[in-house]
Amino acid sequence: MKDLGLTGRSFLTIHDFSPAEIEGLLDLATELKAAQKRREPRPVLAGRAVAMIFMKTSTRTRVSFEIGIEQLGAQPMFLSANDIQLRVGETIKDTANVMSRYVDCIMIRTFAQQDVEDLARYGQIPVINGLTDTHHPCQGLSDALTIREHCGKLQGTKLVYSGDGNNVAHSLAEVGAKTGMHVVICSPAGYLPDEAIIARAQEDAKATGAKIELTSDLQEAVKGADVIYTDTFTSMGQEADHDVRLAALKNYQVNSELLALAGPQVKVMHCLPAHWGEEITEEVLYSPNSVVFDQAENRMHAQKAIMAAIIS
Ligand code: CP
Ligand code: NVA
Repeated sequence: MKDLGLTGRSFLTIHDFSPAEIEGLLDLATELKAAQKRREPRPVLAGRAVAMIFMKTSTRTRVSFEIGIEQLGAQPMFLSANDIQLRVGETIKDTANVMSRYVDCIMIRTFAQQDVEDLARYGQIPVINGLTDTHHPCQGLSDALTIREHCGKLQGTKLVYSGDGNNVAHSLAEVGAKTGMHVVICSPAGYLPDEAIIARAQEDAKATGAKIELTSDLQEAVKGADVIYTDTFTSMGQEADHDVRLAALKNYQVNSELLALAGPQVKVMHCLPAHWGEEITEEVLYSPNSVVFDQAENRMHAQKAIMAAIIS
């Protein structure tokens, strides 16, 4: 396995990695995926342990990490919010120092990005961001793998994201910027992505020829798109505002009328979980254009690449 020179690095945002590093991780993911399909073991992390802290619920992240860790020969440890002292007041700093004595890496899903950054800063082991309110970098990396597989390349590939300018939108903008994609985020006023994150992605885009754009004209944006992507209108932690958000975002649903405007080539992506009849229809989710289950599978392959590259 090729050494990417990333040992000891944390994976907190896509922005932290250079275009060459992102490409190296994607190539490694492809290699590990092919090996797994041939049922060839790659126990490159034998004898290591990875803790997985979940302060929010999960299906894909939990299962894909747990199985991926086992496939790399390491021991996974699942810790829900109810299992550890963090939720009842132990500090991030103390948690980071203690966990560093037991395990070789921490994957954490939580609310504040700052908590993930602090865990990495105070601990002595790499930390992987398994989703925060502002970023979902494992999703972004694995989505780039899926797009590369289905569209043949990333450079110049046009991805139109429709809906809430959330954590997933941010990581897609960042991975698009690092890989030369044309990312258009379509959201109504009040639901646009974070200005600073987009400005930073637009700056990164200069080095790769990527284009990162914002618009509220979805019908115009999807013309000629290679990928249409959406995510829930109500992210974890926003449940109390569900009805208001649904009303504000209802015109951003990915349905068969929208696909018709894009053309037959278009692939549909969704990080899942999906909410049928809200951000996407069941018909589109299960249409021949949909690659959502390949996308879900690729979480595991991309995350194995991240772990194989950063854990010493
Ligand atoms: N896409 C994703 O992260 O799914 P889970 O919330 O089920 O982990
Ligand atoms: N934006 C969603 C993604 C879930 C994987 C959320 O944060 O709930």
